[in-house]
Amino acid sequence: MNQPVMGGVATLNVPAYIKQQKLINWVAEIAALTKPDRIYWCDGSQEEYDRLCAEMVAAGTMKKLNQEKRPNSYLACSDPTDVARVEDRTYICSATKEEAGPTNNWMEPADMRATLNPLFDGCMVGRTMYVVPFSMGPLGSPIAHIGVELSDSPYVAVNMRIMTRMGKAVYDVLGTDGEFVPCVHTVGAPLKAGQKDVAWPCNPTKYIVHYPETREIWSYGSGYGGNALLGKKCFALRIASNMGHQDAAKDGMGWLAEHMLILGVESPEGKKHYVAAAFPSACGKTNFAMLIPPASFDGWKVTTIGDDIAWIKPGADGRLYAINPEAGYFGVAPGTNEKTNFNCMASMRENTIFTNVALTDDGDVWWEGLTKEAPSHLIDWQGKDWTPTSGTKAAHPNARFTVAATQNPVIDAAWDDPAGVPISAFIFGGRRSTTVPLVTEARNWVEGVYMAATMGSETTAAAAGQMGVVRRDPFAMLPFMGYNMSDYFQHWLNLGEKLGKVNAATLPKIYCVNWFRTDDQGHFVWPGFGDNMRVLKWMLERIEGSAGGIENIFGTTPRFGDLKWDGIPFSPEEFETITSIDKDAWREELKLHEELFTKLAYHLPKELTAVKAELEQRLAS
Ligand code: GTP
Ligand code: SPV
Ligand code: MN
Repeated sequence: MNQPVMGGVATLNVPAYIKQQKLINWVAEIAALTKPDRIYWCDGSQEEYDRLCAEMVAAGTMKKLNQEKRPNSYLACSDPTDVARVEDRTYICSATKEEAGPTNNWMEPADMRATLNPLFDGCMVGRTMYVVPFSMGPLGSPIAHIGVELSDSPYVAVNMRIMTRMGKAVYDVLGTDGEFVPCVHTVGAPLKAGQKDVAWPCNPTKYIVHYPETREIWSYGSGYGGNALLGKKCFALRIASNMGHQDAAKDGMGWLAEHMLILGVESPEGKKHYVAAAFPSACGKTNFAMLIPPASFDGWKVTTIGDDIAWIKPGADGRLYAINPEAGYFGVAPGTNEKTNFNCMASMRENTIFTNVALTDDGDVWWEGLTKEAPSHLIDWQGKDWTPTSGTKAAHPNARFTVAATQNPVIDAAWDDPAGVPISAFIFGGRRSTTVPLVTEARNWVEGVYMAATMGSETTAAAAGQMGVVRRDPFAMLPFMGYNMSDYFQHWLNLGEKLGKVNAATLPKIYCVNWFRTDDQGHFVWPGFGDNMRVLKWMLERIEGSAGGIENIFGTTPRFGDLKWDGIPFSPEEFETITSIDKDAWREELKLHEELFTKLAYHLPKELTAVKAELEQRLAS
């Protein structure tokens, strides 16, 4: 291979197994701009992972946890200013503002490049640039796509090894001219000669930038989660949603990239269905994806395909097939325990990277909700001594764990199947303390798309900013939409219409759920977690045509007697408090739908305005 000449910066040292000149030239070009001291090509091996982790332990970025209690696991604590996604610093730089749509930050691509260029110039001085090749989806699968991330963060390199299929084998798939999404990431903290590094380098200035036309990602200033692990939200949602939309112009259908978990559910009779469910960040996807049915649900099995992202493609049979493009989970720690999510706890018994949780005196981890009683002493996520009387949270509310999907005891046998699994239903759920009932089945695809499009949810710690305020979060995709939201609604409507023509009987049903209604004291009324199985079972029986329900203003809901209650003392009165429809509250809610539709007026599908008019009419009568 032709080794480009690198004036005064690190030598490239391209491994012999890399056969693509375009890739090599790009790495050389980015190195010339960012000026790292060293370039390191990740091969994805265990030896490499262990070495990078050991280097981070030596540098103070990570601590190795007690080998007996938590084998091969680490704790990383970030800078307190770098703890979550930064939505106000995230940009979709399409050619026109209309293509990005009113829900995204936008800047003219040329202007953004002019803004970023000086920031990236020399941003890796004193650091190593890691070349991280990865596949989203099973290696070589026709539905998988490849990316290469150039990052000056070893934390990113090791997390990407867990979260994606990362390593040398990717180059075999790339060959001499295979396509890849170029991802450039820097923490934005160059080191002067002799300058001592900090444990978590980052920059107060942050930019998470996407160029849909050229399918590029540029991320500056953050080392945390979705800001930095660019295969996840940036590629698998924002760039991939663009790909799926653009492909519709080619094949008439296109595909979907969604913020959805995928689970398999099997009845005692052996009837198995796969469902995909969209919930906003930190609203229960990981929990739902690994759900353990209550003891009274003898013979029911839930298995995981994915916990955060689904790529969904139409098959020739008119069904939708989904894959999980990821290979690991970057899950919320607080609130997770043996009772709420046993499988999740089992997944992180070893080989786990914890970020921003607390450290126990015996070298293990702790977070709010792990145990009823907090340990008497901890080192909190900011490295300070902590006791139960400290009055602060020991773990950051957006503290996370990174684990390989293969460690999940209920991983579905088909989770790695390049063909994907057929989807029988879509579920959309927000975090709403009022108004939205436990579960509603849409009467048809268009009504389902309306429910998803108008979904509201209280904001969580997963993104920087105010917590607990209700905002519209269409399809749980508000922070992840790579193009115009209204065009995306239209894409969903078109797909449903086309699939329905091939086979109306297999068109997925659409449900809207809310696990989060509270009582006067602010306590959740619905037990949630494993008990969500009761709702899931009803859905399956609806799909099979055997469960009852009643139609109301918004769709079909179960009556008390339509759900299986064995094993919990849940009264019809309690059921009423989480399923009742307060007409006044809904009139207010519809005003918020109106506000959303006004904002999204450009290209808003008229079918959705029609559904709204029907709802208003039913509400008035
Ligand atoms: P991202 O990874 O941020 O996209 O989020 P996620 O949707 O995977 O979030 P996760 O499943 O990790 O949810 C985390 C929070 O939701 C924790 O605080 C849980 O306690 C809470 N949670 C999950 N399921 C339920 C439920 O059924 N009921 C209630 N009340 N809380 C739940
Ligand atoms: C989310 O916020 O929805 C996540 C975590 O899944 S992050 O990867 O940080 O975006
Ligand atoms: Mn997510």
